Amino acid sequence: MESLEARSDDVILAGYPKSGTNWVGQILSDLVATFEKKTQDEESVNDEDLEEFPYLEVGDAGKFERMNKLPSRRVIFTHLLPDNLPRSIFKSKAKILLLIRNPKDVATSFYHFSNGMSLLPSYETWDDFFIAFMTEKMPWGSYFNYLSEWNKYAADENVMTITYEELKENRALGVKNIAAFFGISLTEEELQGVVERSSFQSMKENSLKTHGALGSILFRKGGVSDWKSLFNEDQNEKMDKAFEEHIAGTKLGRKLKYDVYCK
Ligand code: A3P
Repeated sequence: MESLEARSDDVILAGYPKSGTNWVGQILSDLVATFEKKTQDEESVNDEDLEEFPYLEVGDAGKFERMNKLPSRRVIFTHLLPDNLPRSIFKSKAKILLLIRNPKDVATSFYHFSNGMSLLPSYETWDDFFIAFMTEKMPWGSYFNYLSEWNKYAADENVMTITYEELKENRALGVKNIAAFFGISLTEEELQGVVERSSFQSMKENSLKTHGALGSILFRKGGVSDWKSLFNEDQNEKMDKAFEEHIAGTKLGRKLKYDVYCK
């Protein structure tokens, strides 16, 4: 992975699994494609053969050499911790959009996803999953560690943080802010197109085309507070305590508005 040559105009999305990566990934890819469409002639627009699966850590070892040959701007998603990313990402001053979501909804979404996707471990009960989540036995590691590690970068000028919940509350504003951060200048009408194409309903309807069979598992509820359907009192207490211990006092912790979304 170290052979990846990051560029200052790379568009990077970092987020713990189930934080809305596919959603914000669609917004980013759409913003870049809409901008390219109006600024480049037909022939130079990225053709599909030149694309790589956007998740940095998924693919074969030759992926990074191929990525080095891709034209700008590249859109890259990752669930990795900052210390595991190629150093060139930080050296190049590539911009990173950090996506975070409240831990109760992340755990809920992860539980359903794990049981729906054969590549991931499945759990007989929600209680089993909850123990695995809290004891940090998860693919891609612990939620709490993820937020603590990324919190060290949260004040960098090349990092912008957005929460799932704020995007859910005002998608138009979120899309506008994301475009401005990456210096993607579009008209109101073009931005509105991106907003419309990233609605849950629209993405779910298109999911067979965009994500194949995985689509029906991935685009599940798309809302806030579904954790209330799974957490019991004891689990609530344990999560509240862990949040308080690990992230409540950090910049990212405050941004999550735990009292609003998790109580
Ligand atoms: P739920 O399981 O709570 O429904 P990721 O892409 O990181 O795996 O995250 C998946 C979560 O994002 C799922 O949450 C999914 O429904 C939600 N999601 C996907 N597209 C969305 C959209 N357009 N609007 C809101 N939520 C969306």
